[in-house]
Amino acid sequence: MYLIKLGGSVITDKKKECTFKKQVMDNLAKSINKANKQTILIHGAGSFGHIPAKKYKLNAGYNKQEQLHGFSVTHEMVQRLNSLVLKSLQDNNIPAVSISPHSIVKLNDHKLVSMSYDVFEEYLKNKFTPVTFGDVVLDKKLSFSICSGDLLSMVLAKHFKPEKVVFVIDEDGIYSSNPKTDKNAKLLKSITLAELKGLSTSADAHADVTGGMGGKIETIENISKLGIDTVLLNGNKPDRLYKVLIGEDTKSTIVYGDKK
Ligand code: IPE
Repeated sequence: MYLIKLGGSVITDKKKECTFKKQVMDNLAKSINKANKQTILIHGAGSFGHIPAKKYKLNAGYNKQEQLHGFSVTHEMVQRLNSLVLKSLQDNNIPAVSISPHSIVKLNDHKLVSMSYDVFEEYLKNKFTPVTFGDVVLDKKLSFSICSGDLLSMVLAKHFKPEKVVFVIDEDGIYSSNPKTDKNAKLLKSITLAELKGLSTSADAHADVTGGMGGKIETIENISKLGIDTVLLNGNKPDRLYKVLIGEDTKSTIVYGDKK
């Protein structure tokens, strides 16, 4: 089984509110269908969720009444993006079914306290492709907060032990330094957990236009500690996702699962 996270910066235009990149999504859906592997899909919120979530400071938890409206707005927006993703998958013959985190995930101060894995299990058993996404959720300490797609990929990896976790991002992978500012930055084809840890000290300098690479490196470290390989690849080149899913070599970064 494969766990695939489609980054919000790949399937939406992060700078323009609610802009879905339909063609990119359709191409990725085609690759996933062609590879014909059992998968759980996770997608980010991109410009559908991040803008209202930031406006209403939802990740800090409850502090004023108007955030309830913000929570509702953000949820509706990510649900809207989720419908667009679902439609694209359906149009490409993938029996996708949406699983909304807000109704099955509970956090406590941003950390997972409960998750209904059985919903995923049942759908997988019935040959569906479960699709979940970064969402606003209940949080025991904060009343509510945000459950990111990266957190979902970590907890689902821990439970389902997939063959690989694939992060579809808008860069070719992880670089030795920031490729946007350093002409000598090299794409790292494969790295171990120890090498990844070396990178994470200057994580913010590394590649991801969303600026989210620091948090992502922490997520990947946690996945690697489970002994699971993580692949990062460019979603604007959909054949790369196909190749990784069928086990062929392609431009990407693989972070090896820690085998000890
Ligand atoms: C964020 O999810 C969820 C909300 C803002 C509600 P992600 O963190 O997974 O989204 P991307 O991939 O960065 O867009």
